[in-house]
Amino acid sequence: MDHGGGPKKSQKKQRKQDQWRGERPRDIFEKVWSARDSFGERTRRLPLTAFARPLPQLDSLPESKQQEIQRALHLFSFGQTMPRTLQQAARRAYEFWHTQPVPKLGETAMGRGQITAGEASAREEPYSLPRGFSWDTLELSRPSVMQELRTLLNENYTEDDDNTVAPDLSVDYLQWVLQPPNWLAQWHCGVRVESNKKLVGFIAAVPADVHVYDTVKRMAQIKFLCVHKKLRLKRMTPVLIRELARRVRRQGVGQAAYTASVVLPTPLSSCRLHHRPLNLRKLLEVQYPGIRGDMPPQRALKFYRLPENTKTAGLRPMTKDHIERVRRLLQANLSKFHLKAGWSREEVAHWLLPREDVIDTYVVEADDGALTGVVSFYGISSKVLNHRLHGSVRAAHLFYATSAAGGDLVQLAEDALVLLKSKGFDIVIAADVMDNNRFLEQLKFSFSGKWLHYYLYNWRCPTLISEPVTLGLILKFKKDSRTILSRACNTWLNIKIQLTILST
Ligand SMILES: CC(C)(COP(=O)(O)OP(=O)(O)OC[C@H]1O[C@@H](n2cnc3c(N)ncnc32)[C@H](O)[C@@H]1OP(=O)(O)O)[C@@H](O)C(=O)NCCC(=O)NCCS
Repeated sequence: MDHGGGPKKSQKKQRKQDQWRGERPRDIFEKVWSARDSFGERTRRLPLTAFARPLPQLDSLPESKQQEIQRALHLFSFGQTMPRTLQQAARRAYEFWHTQPVPKLGETAMGRGQITAGEASAREEPYSLPRGFSWDTLELSRPSVMQELRTLLNENYTEDDDNTVAPDLSVDYLQWVLQPPNWLAQWHCGVRVESNKKLVGFIAAVPADVHVYDTVKRMAQIKFLCVHKKLRLKRMTPVLIRELARRVRRQGVGQAAYTASVVLPTPLSSCRLHHRPLNLRKLLEVQYPGIRGDMPPQRALKFYRLPENTKTAGLRPMTKDHIERVRRLLQANLSKFHLKAGWSREEVAHWLLPREDVIDTYVVEADDGALTGVVSFYGISSKVLNHRLHGSVRAAHLFYATSAAGGDLVQLAEDALVLLKSKGFDIVIAADVMDNNRFLEQLKFSFSGKWLHYYLYNWRCPTLISEPVTLGLILKFKKDSRTILSRACNTWLNIKIQLTILST
């Protein structure tokens, strides 16, 4: 039966399909969406989240299926990813970052100091969000709110979208990272969907006294920038960053320190993340990202075998009694680095005193009470997706490994591996920072393929071109890196990154 208009409609549909046939998905999405995105900034490319419109039925699929489709679309969206090298970065417009007080890529820093005097102009009212979204200062002391944050991060705070593992951050871990001494609730900044109150975006900062060359500045250390997967590439990130910067400035703090695996304007330094299997068989079975079975299994097991017991005399868990001595040892040993966080007694206690399944610290204590070494690591679990036997993988991140002059740092680090294995960790992750290069190779760490870049917001200073010296939460860079080669540092960094990309 002809309802009139029916054939016309299907002809129209057919024409549209013909028009799109043969085009890459990216082109289709670009046609579907206008050049102005929902967060009010001009974007050059919009497609990734845009598939929600051509495929409205996507929402009705289970989350895992949606993620699979998203990944497939990622593969087709050529050129969408953030730059991983300075060469790639040189081709990006950085429409947001070029409006921010950060050094431009390729610029040679002349002098040191803040880039803009922003505190005075920090506006009172929050930045506007698109209709349907609202800001929320997360009250993390409320278990239900903490749980919401945990869900957001565990489902979305990941780069390795390859369906093997997903982060499984615990409440205790989040409290440790987000509530150090002097933390401020207003720096825990969330975005919710107004209709159902779902948390879909988050950015946080914690206060820290950061030493940059000869200056000590109270800064905001940025944590957990995260946008829900369904809202990616919609320019929510610039709004989150602007709002957090406003809140930070309202407290009279004008600078921030942060790390990212992507290249933004402009890295102060960069390091490579290394990993060292403890339970190789399991890592291979779950196809842990970056772990390859290059060696015959028996040889590999022998290669990574560790002693049964630790060897360093006087190695024991850190207690409250050690706080002041640990502080002094770190202060003395880190004085050679150009970028570092200065810790008070309270901060040493917070960041280093052992907390079950969060942070573990061991000290080397001589009979006379002198401390000659400290080693600490924090644990992060991941859920294993799609494996019958293994439900989770536990990764230990080396936080600090330092020993006084004459101390055996290699032995101390090996002992740390022995302890970590006995505690059931499957892998150890360490950056080539501080004095870690003294033991990484010897203890069979290998480059994981991942880089970490270090940034300062609203602070100009010469780039640190020797090895950066930090483990995730704290920043320390070698003093001898202040060098007349600063003009050449971008080239150097570029080469370093390029070589790595080639070798992975
Ligand atoms: C990082 C993340 C928030 C970016 O979101 P997105 O939807 O891809 O990006 P948006 O469209 O919202 O914003 C794009 C802008 O954010 C910037 N940006 C992207 N990743 C960034 C990062 N890690 N840090 C700071 N800025 C970043 C981009 O450079 C771009 O600005 P530009 O125009 O100046 O180049 C998102 O991918 C995410 O949640 N990833 C998982 C968690 C994660 O990796 N967090 C970062 C830890 S450092």
